Amino acid sequence: MEESLLSKVGQVIEKLTGRLTSTKLGIDSGSLEDLLDATVDAAKELVGIEQFALWLLDNESNKLKIRAHKGLSDYWRSFELDVGESITGKAVKDKEVQIVRDLAQDKRVKYTEVEKEVRAMICIPLIIGDKAIGALSGFKNIPYDFSPGEENILRIIANCSASAILLAKRNEESKDHIVEVVHTLVSAFGEKNAWTAQHQERVMIDVIRVTHKLGLDYVKQSRARNTARLHDIGKFSIEEPVLNRNGCLTEKEWIFMKNHPIRGVKIIERVEGLGYAIPGIRDHHERLDGSGYPAGLKGEQIELIPRLIAVTDSYDAMTFPRPYKPIIMPPKVCTEELCRCSMLPYNKEVLSVFRALEKMKCSSEVSEEVRARILFETEGELLICTSQPEIKGLLGSFQTKDKGHALQYDPEIVKAFVETLKERNLLR
Ligand SMILES: [Fe+2]
Repeated sequence: MEESLLSKVGQVIEKLTGRLTSTKLGIDSGSLEDLLDATVDAAKELVGIEQFALWLLDNESNKLKIRAHKGLSDYWRSFELDVGESITGKAVKDKEVQIVRDLAQDKRVKYTEVEKEVRAMICIPLIIGDKAIGALSGFKNIPYDFSPGEENILRIIANCSASAILLAKRNEESKDHIVEVVHTLVSAFGEKNAWTAQHQERVMIDVIRVTHKLGLDYVKQSRARNTARLHDIGKFSIEEPVLNRNGCLTEKEWIFMKNHPIRGVKIIERVEGLGYAIPGIRDHHERLDGSGYPAGLKGEQIELIPRLIAVTDSYDAMTFPRPYKPIIMPPKVCTEELCRCSMLPYNKEVLSVFRALEKMKCSSEVSEEVRARILFETEGELLICTSQPEIKGLLGSFQTKDKGHALQYDPEIVKAFVETLKERNLLR
């Protein structure tokens, strides 16, 4: 091996074993994603291959999921395989390196999207003891013969990072375990509020579906899932007669009830490692137009996770009965409501000019040119566009919004959520 290559290998081993030590010592508790990135970076640096994917076996689903990749399109982000499926699945099942010179000629690959991007593949299983925990795959976009030297270097990287990954993974799983413990403990204290615990579980499942649909990375998915599971934890501190009251709350009780996000934060902020859950717990009743509580935040002030929970939480609240609200909405009606509340807010002044324009259009023959000039003098560029043919449609939608609905929910999230409901045949 030439000197410069040897030195590079040395640097990579130092980097990966350095990660291993810090993970062992628990210094770098949030390091799994960094470690996975460092592994694909090292592979790319040492071997003349531009495209890599690092797969890990998910304990819950027993599927291989891509956790880090380089040089591949975002399509790969949500890619999953069963153990034994395709080439990577076979490498993990048999714990043996798999090399394919031309994927187009290999019947095990049945994904056309994959074929568009890659042609040759080398797959090294990540092995700890007698178990494969994932795989490191390298790709070429032309038919290619991987050399024994390239295979050896990738083996060194895979072996080096496997132990570090295992430790970091355990670290990560212990954080999920903390969520489980907190949830169980607090639920036990509030045993009579079983419906709140069930509500949190359902919201968590819906949030998982939406994060998948939105193609969020693994860390964001996992944080959104754990936060959703705890989002109403502050409700366990509310007395049962108030929480389950079938009737109106007094003003004092309602103020107390609306304070449950803050109470939830007070519980969670004491738990080390769950700081990421605070915005979701505190802000899941905030609305984009500022009409929510407890702080009346608006738009960008509300982060992604609380926006996600806001949609799935509202859906669950509308479609499942509660002690104080036995009547529920069918999913179809509920999603129509969510869609209506995720439309862009109208501006009353703009609306009145639109209406004036429509009047002019009906009552007299006004040329496009004159109309455009009048409008330009009135409002500038924004209204010039209203001289286009779709004006009627625009006016129609603005009139709908005139009924007082504004942008409460994130339209992208509502769209993704509605798609997940359609896939489950709930909107027929
Ligand atoms: Fe809540």
